[in-house]
Amino acid sequence: MTTLAVDSVPHGFRGAILDFVGDPFYGAIEDCVRYWPDGLLVVAAGRVVACGAYDDLQGEFPNLDITAYPHRLLMPGFIDTHIHFPQMTMMAAYGEQLLAWLERYTFPIEAQFKDPAFARPMADRFLTELLRHGTTTALVLAAVFPESAEVLFEAAAARNLRLIAGKVMMDRNAPDYLLDTATDSYADSRRLIETWHKRGRLLYAVTPRFAVTSTPEQLSLAGKLLQEFPDVYLHTHLSENVDEVALVKATYPDHDGYLDVYDRAGLVGDRSIFAHGVQLTEAEFARLSEAGAAIAFCPSSNLFLGSGCFPIEKAKSTITPIKVGLGSDVGAGTSFSILQTAQDAYKVAQLRRQKLSAFQGLFLATLGGARALNLEAHIGNFLPGKEADFVVLDPCATPALALRHPNSLAQNHPVGTVAPDLETVADLAFALMLLGDDRAITATYILGELAYDQSA
Ligand code: GUN
Ligand code: ZN
Repeated sequence: MTTLAVDSVPHGFRGAILDFVGDPFYGAIEDCVRYWPDGLLVVAAGRVVACGAYDDLQGEFPNLDITAYPHRLLMPGFIDTHIHFPQMTMMAAYGEQLLAWLERYTFPIEAQFKDPAFARPMADRFLTELLRHGTTTALVLAAVFPESAEVLFEAAAARNLRLIAGKVMMDRNAPDYLLDTATDSYADSRRLIETWHKRGRLLYAVTPRFAVTSTPEQLSLAGKLLQEFPDVYLHTHLSENVDEVALVKATYPDHDGYLDVYDRAGLVGDRSIFAHGVQLTEAEFARLSEAGAAIAFCPSSNLFLGSGCFPIEKAKSTITPIKVGLGSDVGAGTSFSILQTAQDAYKVAQLRRQKLSAFQGLFLATLGGARALNLEAHIGNFLPGKEADFVVLDPCATPALALRHPNSLAQNHPVGTVAPDLETVADLAFALMLLGDDRAITATYILGELAYDQSA
């Protein structure tokens, strides 16, 4: 086991441990999944120093101070690759599909986030909610008002979170009170990038809302920002709903489809994350693959708004492989929980006569999300040197889970018992993915520090 030289005192966390070092959509399970029924995660200075079987590792760290989590499962923190900060108060808005839902519910609610006195405490509640659900990194849309991004960055900085966010750019096809202009959105985004991008763990995403609400001028200024700041992200919506796709075609009649609108503005690259992609054409899958762009798969939202079923097997094919993460898409998504989002991903796959294993779903929730956000060097698993953001799960958190788990995967492999094989772990992890939610989050750690404790 390789260890990393660090100067601060190491601390250990003992429990069952599960993480991914490869993509189970492509590789053999044994090559992708690591599981220790009685594991030890050693952390120092906020980073992983070592991770492995308790019996193998403890000798290397003789005076290690250990926090024990018997009957719990440690996993890398969950990663939400698409969520709206100003929509947290409007989940479960009744009866509409995307375009009417935006007009009737979403736009009026987002207007509230102009006032920092309102938005600031909401930012704190938003981050509390992420941590309460085991989400340690998120790619977040703020509202159109730069103040709404500002308060979110401030709150995330105070908690030392690795968060990517951006002010939404939108200069047409929405109520006046929610519109910026192409030049103001450029200047405001630029100022936010200069203030927040790479400050601590924070990163900036240039965030045109979607093709419908941006003029070509605004999209091209978004492209200019990407050229001027090559390591910021591009984050937007793409091909979510049939009526939306038709509207984009009508709005941009001389373009070759929805993705081409973004492409011609220079917005399609390997730091671009597109939410949804439910209605993509084969050619668009190929273009995203070629560009190294990512898709945020948002099954809860896609079901709630009746948008359709994202064909994950196309994104995970060897022909047009595309980076994929899971997105809660709150407030169209009906839960902050990435476990629940993975559950919906499984159901969406079923509707398409496809399968999504627990290892595949939990990979998307962790290392897959990190890869989609180009953050694999920092987060996503417990390899030495990674930032120690992790979640402590209770595989028996509810009566339904306890019934399904009479011999839990987190028994910590007591002496004399046989460690479960990966097939058994897959079954137990599947129950956790399907039946787990915020009740299964015992604790959440940020850089090795306790950031949420269910019992507190
Ligand atoms: N497309 C443009 N804006 C939005 C939004 O706020 N939510 C979703 N789900 N799709 C969008
Ligand atoms: Zn969205």
